[in-house]
Amino acid sequence: MVVLVIGGAGYIGSHAARALRRRGHEVIVYDNVSTGHAFLASGFELVRADIADVATLKSVLRRVDSVMHFAAHAYVGESVENPRKYFRNNVESGLALLNACLDCNVRRIIFSSTCAVYGVPVRIPISEQNPRQPVNPYGVSKLFFENALEAYDRAYGLRFAALRYFNAAGADESGEIGELHDPESHLIPSAMQAATGARREMELFGTDYPTPDGTCIRDYIHVNDLADAHVIALELLTGGANSMEVNLGTGRGYSVKEIISKIEEVSKLKVPVRIAGRRPGDPPALVADPTLAEKLLHWKATRSLDDIVATAWKWMQRQDSKALSS
Ligand SMILES: NC(=O)c1ccc[n+]([C@@H]2O[C@H](COP(=O)([O-])OP(=O)(O)OC[C@H]3O[C@@H](n4cnc5c(N)ncnc54)[C@H](O)[C@@H]3O)[C@@H](O)[C@H]2O)c1
Repeated sequence: MVVLVIGGAGYIGSHAARALRRRGHEVIVYDNVSTGHAFLASGFELVRADIADVATLKSVLRRVDSVMHFAAHAYVGESVENPRKYFRNNVESGLALLNACLDCNVRRIIFSSTCAVYGVPVRIPISEQNPRQPVNPYGVSKLFFENALEAYDRAYGLRFAALRYFNAAGADESGEIGELHDPESHLIPSAMQAATGARREMELFGTDYPTPDGTCIRDYIHVNDLADAHVIALELLTGGANSMEVNLGTGRGYSVKEIISKIEEVSKLKVPVRIAGRRPGDPPALVADPTLAEKLLHWKATRSLDDIVATAWKWMQRQDSKALSS
């Protein structure tokens, strides 16, 4: 199968591109490299363009069977300050992409959704039964796209998998690709940057949550576990499965303090921490109920927190040594 990986020069998309290739699929990467990096897509055909550039998009869509759509803006705080930017890219350009898929007769799409569509969950662990009530424009933009997919499925027979990730983390075991956001706001790379001195300290947002150690609990899932789930979902759709909306998490949560301890253990360095206040809208705990994914995809995250931190550390050290030698 020929798969267009949109946003394939980004963190998760680049891992999915490799997972597809491992399964024998042909991959074309489409990315405007706004937050991604061309070298993450090396070894693949890379079309450098925006999804809003419908003419270029259609010329590529005519060559593929299916789409994986990772391209989005994805900073919650920025979405509150600049919702226009988020609605333009994630909603308007996203719709342009969906319509282009229809026009080019591409009828299968895997979409990067997020646990942010649930907002502050009613029940933990979070199953797909939780109401979708996003509390920021980023989550709203992802929910809009889910709604559009549902409507296009009913009306036009477009088959989709909306995969609601919890916290993607870790890096490819090869050390060749990994997480590289600028600015980096995710906990594990931020804490590692603080440990190596690449940033002065990491900010710990809130130590007075109703959790055992007072810090927020999140469900960290290894990026290659995520990537594998994408390939499985796509192959199921190709085999005739119905569209699906599924959580991708491990079902196990770790607190910020537990993550910091694990990083200190693996790196053998101290993580300098500055205690800051809670961030508005940060729920105390977000942990997936992974039951539906296990049932529908026959998939389960297999990599542990140790694997996540070890691979992220290996990736970061490689980046540091590349920076030193350049
Ligand atoms: N990282 C996480 O923990 C997480 C959690 C939940 C959901 N997600 C979702 O997963 C997806 C990938 O996240 P990521 O962490 O890999 O981010 P990323 O920024 O590394 O990757 C996104 C890629 O899309 C590209 N892109 C953005 N807008 C584009 C456009 N208009 N046209 C073409 N390319 C465009 C960027 O250049 C980048 O390479 C996003 O949709 C994000 O909302 C991520």
